[in-house]
Amino acid sequence: MPTAIVTGATGILGGAIVDALGRDPEKWTKVYAVSRSQKQAYPANVEHSFIDLTSDAAEMAKQLQGVKVDYCFFAAYLQKDTEEEMSEVNGKMLRNFLDALDITGASKKLKRVILTTGCKQYGVHLGQVKCPMEESDPWIDAPGRPPNFYYTQQRILVEKSNASGSYEWVVTYPNDVIGVAQNNFMNLATSLGLYCAVSKELGDELIFPGSEFFYTAFDCFTDSRLHADFNLWAAEAPGCGNQAFNVVNGDADSWHNLWPKIAKRFNCQIPKNQFKVDSRFEGLKMKLDDSAPINDMAATLGLEGATFSNTLDQKIDLVKWSQNQGVIEAWKRVQQRHGLEEGVFEKATWSFLGFVLGRDYNIVISMAKARKLGWVGYIDNYEAFDIAFDELENLKVLPPTG
Ligand SMILES: NC(=O)c1ccc[n+]([C@@H]2O[C@H](COP(=O)([O-])OP(=O)(O)OC[C@H]3O[C@@H](n4cnc5c(N)ncnc54)[C@H](OP(=O)(O)O)[C@@H]3O)[C@@H](O)[C@H]2O)c1
Repeated sequence: MPTAIVTGATGILGGAIVDALGRDPEKWTKVYAVSRSQKQAYPANVEHSFIDLTSDAAEMAKQLQGVKVDYCFFAAYLQKDTEEEMSEVNGKMLRNFLDALDITGASKKLKRVILTTGCKQYGVHLGQVKCPMEESDPWIDAPGRPPNFYYTQQRILVEKSNASGSYEWVVTYPNDVIGVAQNNFMNLATSLGLYCAVSKELGDELIFPGSEFFYTAFDCFTDSRLHADFNLWAAEAPGCGNQAFNVVNGDADSWHNLWPKIAKRFNCQIPKNQFKVDSRFEGLKMKLDDSAPINDMAATLGLEGATFSNTLDQKIDLVKWSQNQGVIEAWKRVQQRHGLEEGVFEKATWSFLGFVLGRDYNIVISMAKARKLGWVGYIDNYEAFDIAFDELENLKVLPPTG
């Protein structure tokens, strides 16, 4: 029966992988969960280890003595202020960890290392991208492009896998993750749910705070549990070794499809002409990068000289909104009325939510490659949000909506 080690065990994506492995003790007889903190109790087949992945390989090897596993799921991630620092620290964590497995001899038994990255792979954070995005698309790393820590990590993983002569590599590209991890409130569903709950408290109107263009354009989401199932499948499925895969829910979606369903859940009304009415909150327009990623392949696509979007357009600047006195007081009323968790509003990722909703271009991600190899996983996008909101209500992060 296979065994596994998961880094990023307290994270949105790593936590879901630990949960999936923990749920199946008959198959996954031993699972090591690695992070600097522990935020939940684990089932008997899961053992938690406190390891700081920024420490050097020899130090980590001492802590990993006796750990021999078939599969490694690497989902640790450290946020930094600049892309250069992100590349430096996230590359170092992966390299030192894999080096430590070499020192202990564990890498000889390893069959596959599955690394979680994301759709920044395609430059979705820089501007308009080619759609649908396919794993064979060229990397956005032409001179002048900002560094991308996913590229750094993938180069390290491929190099270490080739040198090992034993294990294969797999990389996943999730996008706009929907999920919840215990005591980790820096995620899309939390900030979106808080925005809705406070909008309800301020009156019944739920204005889409993002871009008018994006409201009727397309986005793709990744449910954290579906991503975990994908990791377990890709670890063992024949033909998945030494490959990268997009991992999204299965259907492209739009906010004009999701927003009315979300408004209904939070008992709010959408203004009939929400992009025409003046909001009392300030908006934000900003440039993401000098040139949209699609420009790098425009000539190949026969689109040289065409104009592409590289902007963010928020009807409501959510960072400023979250600092507005009336908003803060409305949240305090909701929080006290329902005895909700302290500090979540302050920890919520307002700039990330503003980015996700404010893009001025489509995000369509192909699942063809995995499907051809037998992947059949799927979840409806609104259902994924609904489940995450239910969990956040149970954790007393969001008020009950009935
Ligand atoms: N969340 C999204 O919306 C999203 C979307 C697309 C792609 N991704 C990508 O998915 C990957 C995982 O992201 P995530 O959102 O799941 O991250 P996350 O929720 O922020 O979790 C990060 C994990 O890494 C661990 N970690 C951080 N520094 C560590 C260190 N020095 N030593 C040991 N463990 C450390 C954290 O645990 P401790 O703090 O307890 O150590 C935590 O378990 C990243 O590459 C991210 O870019 C995320």
